[in-house]
Amino acid sequence: MNPKLINSIEEMSTIRRQLKGKIGFIPTMGFLHEGHLSLVSAAEKQSDIVIVSIFVNPTQFNVNEDLSNYPRNIERDIELLSNMKVNYIFFPTDEQMYPEGFKTWVNVDKITQVLCGISRPTHFRGVTTIVAKLMNIIDPDLMFMGEKDFQQLVVLKQMVKDLNFRTKIVGCSIVREEDGLALSSRNKYLTNEGRKKALCLNKSLLLAQKLFSEDIRSSNKIISQMTILIEDNEGIIDYIEVIDQESLEHISELKSGCRIALAIIVENTRLIDNIKII
Ligand code: PAJ
Repeated sequence: MNPKLINSIEEMSTIRRQLKGKIGFIPTMGFLHEGHLSLVSAAEKQSDIVIVSIFVNPTQFNVNEDLSNYPRNIERDIELLSNMKVNYIFFPTDEQMYPEGFKTWVNVDKITQVLCGISRPTHFRGVTTIVAKLMNIIDPDLMFMGEKDFQQLVVLKQMVKDLNFRTKIVGCSIVREEDGLALSSRNKYLTNEGRKKALCLNKSLLLAQKLFSEDIRSSNKIISQMTILIEDNEGIIDYIEVIDQESLEHISELKSGCRIALAIIVENTRLIDNIKII
């Protein structure tokens, strides 16, 4: 299937108004991998029309972050999406999304100040603002998002609820390489050596699940075992937190259904991962 390429907001809005049926939307920053494509597959199954956006959103990067060298390859992205049942690819420019004089921000309180929000204080404001804009343009019935960015998923669900968007967010499981590394556009920054070290994210989460299965419940105890594993692999810990899935609040005793989320720096690249404890 050849998706129609749209790079103007006006054209996207006009086309949208003429579309009938269930619209499934997948917002992305491009440099697509199997994780993104799993969201497209889910959308294909649950919607009549599939729209993917590709936009490297400048406002969700902190000043000292990797915006300018964030990996991009629009031709390859289009090719990958052409092999799937995607009807439209929307890729607006920075100037269209943030014209001169732009002043309005969408801000979700509290749950954006914890976990990734501590080292990236303006990140979620950028995410919520761009996703609100995209949802206003595309007005999807369903929006497909990965649990890989678990905090992002919770924050956007809160925004949708609080601002009465009619869209339903569908959370999709994390896609991993065979060896357990969660797929991420940022994995590209890692050397072969770094990629091996990065396995410590998933390994430490699996260790936590194993300890839980052995009846260890103390978050502190589990986090200290995870810390040893990660530091042995030269990972630098930004955070490891045992959290409640809905409130994102820290919990001191693990229970079935809680999440462990972490952010680890490997070779200067900040990687995130999480697990639902069962
Ligand atoms: P991006 O990092 O491109 O991710 C787009 C979507 O793909 C997100 O919902 C993310 O959770 C999902 N995803 C990434 N890796 C995944 C994996 N290994 N398994 C499953 N899903 C995965 O997230 C963003 O872009 C941006 O913040 C965005 C929402 C587009 C706003 O700019």
